[in-house]
Amino acid sequence: MIHARGLARTFDGRGRGKQKEQVKAVAGVDIDVAEGEIVGFLGPNGAGKTTTLRMLTTLLKPTAGSATVAGYDVATQSQQVRRSIGYVSQSGSTSPEARAGEEIMDHGMLYGISQKQAETRGRELFEQLDLDGLWERQPRAMSGGQRRRLDIAMGLVHDPTLVFLDEPTTGLDPQARANLWTHISDLRVKRGATIFLTTHYLDEADALCDRILVIDHGVIVASDTPDALKRQVSGDLVELVVADPAQAPAAARLLAAIADSEPADGAAGAGAATVRARVRGAGHEVAGLIRALDAEGIALESIEVRRPTLDDVFLTLTGRSLREGA
Ligand SMILES: Nc1ncnc2c1ncn2[C@@H]1O[C@H](COP(=O)(O)OP(=O)(O)OP(=O)(O)O)[C@@H](O)[C@H]1O
Ligand SMILES: [Mg+2]
Repeated sequence: MIHARGLARTFDGRGRGKQKEQVKAVAGVDIDVAEGEIVGFLGPNGAGKTTTLRMLTTLLKPTAGSATVAGYDVATQSQQVRRSIGYVSQSGSTSPEARAGEEIMDHGMLYGISQKQAETRGRELFEQLDLDGLWERQPRAMSGGQRRRLDIAMGLVHDPTLVFLDEPTTGLDPQARANLWTHISDLRVKRGATIFLTTHYLDEADALCDRILVIDHGVIVASDTPDALKRQVSGDLVELVVADPAQAPAAARLLAAIADSEPADGAAGAGAATVRARVRGAGHEVAGLIRALDAEGIALESIEVRRPTLDDVFLTLTGRSLREGA
């Protein structure tokens, strides 16, 4: 459904001394998305997510590379591409003055469906996205989360089989986010839709996506299923909270015996000390560790074993935490 090769975009910016400076927003990305896939495009602010999406949806011309979307070339067949897709932009596209229902119908008709179809489908989406009773309301009199859901309804009203969503859940409360996740999954299950979405929420990418592309500084640094990405991180994180800080060095020595990485000291709480390290196959190793600690008379306040998260993946790939960036 989506095939991009060396897709790149450079912007003319102004440097600090006001001299011209080229901003390499997207530095030649290859993307392949198969029919029926839900693919997440994950990266921190400024990574190049929106720029890539705008190129794929023909709203922005690439400075290099090529792409086909739904079988059409984004450079030479932009009309056909646009007719084949739904797009929900990061900033939203509702005009504040029009009434929500009118706007969604106009939008559907723009894409070639009849007024009646547009109204039926629009009202159905309002119900599914918890916008009941807001058909006659102007977007400017809606809450941020309601406006966001209206944007999403607009992008879906013509029943596209390929949908681009740019940070669909930013600004939604947890319940509305969960509801939208269900809705997005349903688009695939019930309508066979293909979905390409950007996010910087790790849990969202994890819960929703079959595959994740991680982008950083305009370059795709990883592409795999969430589970496979997490397996790349070597080992689970084992964290010991030692009741007596004086025993922390001894605990660290025992942990080091089973660890892949040098144990690090964590924050010390009230009278306790934390020691943590990555351990491959921690599930098998901790029983022995606890016995060894016990044999040396080291009392623990707690022990925690945490499976790698997507944030650990990002940290391993880029040396930075996505959580800090986002
Ligand atoms: N029209 C433009 N002119 C100049 N620079 C731009 C323009 N649009 C984007 N950029 C720059 O390109 C880079 C990538 O921006 P982009 O909007 O694609 O990031 P993003 O991954 O969508 O980030 P966010 O998570 O904040 O939405 C940024 O450094 C941005 O400042
Ligand atoms: Mg963006």
